[in-house]
Amino acid sequence: MRRKVIAGNWKMNMLPADTINFIEGLASRVKDTESEVILCVPYTDLFYAWHATEGTNIHIGAQNMHWEEKGAYTGEISGQMLKSIGVEYVIIGHSERRQYFAETDETVNKKIKAAFENELKPIVCVGETLEQREAGKTETIITKQVELALEGLTNEQVRNTIIAYEPIWAIGTGKTATSEDANNSIKAIRNKITSIYGDVAQDVIIQYGGSVKSSNAKELFETSDIDGALVGGASLKVDEFEKIVNYNKN
Ligand code: PGA
Repeated sequence: MRRKVIAGNWKMNMLPADTINFIEGLASRVKDTESEVILCVPYTDLFYAWHATEGTNIHIGAQNMHWEEKGAYTGEISGQMLKSIGVEYVIIGHSERRQYFAETDETVNKKIKAAFENELKPIVCVGETLEQREAGKTETIITKQVELALEGLTNEQVRNTIIAYEPIWAIGTGKTATSEDANNSIKAIRNKITSIYGDVAQDVIIQYGGSVKSSNAKELFETSDIDGALVGGASLKVDEFEKIVNYNKN
């Protein structure tokens, strides 16, 4: 039985003081949840987040990393660096990175491998554009992205990869895929993983992302295949994020 994994993606928001306040406010309110709670914070907040989450059940993630260990890559941060300050998860291939920072399926694959080399768990984002959806290509696009992202991984690494299905047209727009649509896309991803890696696909956490909020979380999470969410805007407010984590208690 897969448990829910609920990850906040703060994107380029929040200063260290905001981070500490947020975690202090959230910790006691999510301490009894059965879900895995992750906050993916900006690099400059990671160290503060690590300290603030000590003794809590909140886990820390970064939003990107470079695939090399070290060297002449001005401005980049490696997996080894993230690991050294208590980071456990790392978002890889978010659509904003693919769109604005030239990430490709190939760099995504390299980063996932580097994440595992550094004992970080990747949260790998895939999703179709509105144009692709309207052309009926959703399934082809997302299953190909998943196939290329996971290429060359061992079964055990695949088992430990989190996938976030995030239709690009639903990110930050207030438009959410219907729970049925999102569940079908996620099933297609799981079938693809089964066809390549076998039964391990049943253990892979596949989240939905794109305008998830407290008012739609429950419906999404009660479907057969959606294993939680990657939450952007709604993860910036303690009240809202807490309600998403505790979707089954309210
Ligand atoms: P959103 O962002 O929840 O604000 O739509 C989701 C994401 O980009 O991960």
